[in-house]
Amino acid sequence: MNPARALCHILLSLPIIHASSAFQDNAKVPLSISATADRWNITNIAKADIARANAMYKGSSKKRDASVYETNAGGVYTAQVGVGDPPTEYTLLLDTGSSNTWIGANPAHPYNRTDTSKDTGNSVAVYYGFGTFSGEEYNDTVSLGNGLTIKQQSIGVASSCQGFPDFVDGVLGLGPVGLTEGTVTFTNDVPTVVDNLYSQGVIGSLVLGVYFIPFSDASEGELTFGGYDDYAIDGSVTYVPVTTSDPASLYWGIDASISYNGSSILSLSAGIIDTATALILIADDAFSRYQSATGATLEPSTGLYTISDDQYNNIQVLSFDIGGISYNLNPNAQILPRSRTGNQIYLAIVGLGRDSNSGWDFTCGCAFLERYYTIIDSKNLQVGFARTHYTDSKSN
Ligand SMILES: *[C@@H]1O[C@H](CO)[C@@H](O)[C@H](O)[C@H]1NC(C)=O
Ligand SMILES: *[C@@H]1O[C@H](CO)[C@@H](O)[C@H](O)[C@H]1NC(C)=O
Ligand SMILES: *[C@@H]1O[C@H](CO)[C@@H](O)[C@H](O)[C@H]1NC(C)=O
Repeated sequence: MNPARALCHILLSLPIIHASSAFQDNAKVPLSISATADRWNITNIAKADIARANAMYKGSSKKRDASVYETNAGGVYTAQVGVGDPPTEYTLLLDTGSSNTWIGANPAHPYNRTDTSKDTGNSVAVYYGFGTFSGEEYNDTVSLGNGLTIKQQSIGVASSCQGFPDFVDGVLGLGPVGLTEGTVTFTNDVPTVVDNLYSQGVIGSLVLGVYFIPFSDASEGELTFGGYDDYAIDGSVTYVPVTTSDPASLYWGIDASISYNGSSILSLSAGIIDTATALILIADDAFSRYQSATGATLEPSTGLYTISDDQYNNIQVLSFDIGGISYNLNPNAQILPRSRTGNQIYLAIVGLGRDSNSGWDFTCGCAFLERYYTIIDSKNLQVGFARTHYTDSKSN
């Protein structure tokens, strides 16, 4: 076992947080998640995020689900998901940028069929840019814990796949249902786990709350299905409509402008929020304004940008203006956790690999989501944001 894998197992066995009782309505239940150690694999984190953004952008022209993971990619939060009755647990990547749920990525942990397993006779294939998976589509009982049990959830069972980290068994698809189109034979849209939780009356609204906590504070988080967790939020929630700009509109896309130290670096543009991206990616022209203002230096071996202690002491607020509200990232929110990066200070922001005006000019990955609670409302096609108790954390 290599050191990265060993560490991964240690982190996955950390105790996980369970938020206590009172939620917006009774049907809401939290799902605890664990961050994997490979989140902060400095060598691959930027490359994997940019490759994913590029593949999703290109794939979207074919209206195809196309996200990318690379072995040892950074930025993956996972959840333990039960399949079957009695359930067998699988470790699935949380992906708001794709919508098929499937297992079987790890041959050492194959599908354990029970009486609830029904082969639909259809095959499934999802192209994830650099990676892919294909196999057979089944119906089975899927349990997310805390009473969140779905009957006859359509899930893929991989017979072949490539490009996935070896510590995951598959993907929990939390993206818009439209991304499933064309992935399963003889089937139009494949209802997602959120769709089925709602249609089967397990949750009262088509809402997903995403709560990620900065690595150095807890390296954990929580998903809430059917609403959001009041206790995680500090203040109020403000919603904006999902963007109409293509191709960001195919994902959980929003419109935002970005400023640094009060000066605009990106005018109002579309981008996406994405749980399977580690960093914050912004269009190259906007990034070069940010780079000049911070004085950051490219480290070619990683594709990340470094700053000195003096430069860190001069870092100003980076702000996403979304629907008239400024979501500020303090200096600490703009760097990777120093507990994982030794003496070097790395920025958590990189260029997207294309200039602005592309219809998708930024990705708010985990580095953003760890500072603002994010609510995906797929019925009203809106995304909400709120401060958390960690928004201004200086723990990195
Ligand atoms: C498969 O499921 C059965 C219950 O139906 C359980 O007893 C068994 O341990 C499971 N196998 C694995 C490898 O998890
Ligand atoms: C799978 O589930 C869907 C939705 O509940 C249902 O319409 C379909 O008949 C099921 N197929 C099988 C083979 O059980
Ligand atoms: C930030 O903006 C203020 C006001 O425009 C300016 O005086 C200051 O030099 C800027 N600081 C940095 C580090 O860019």
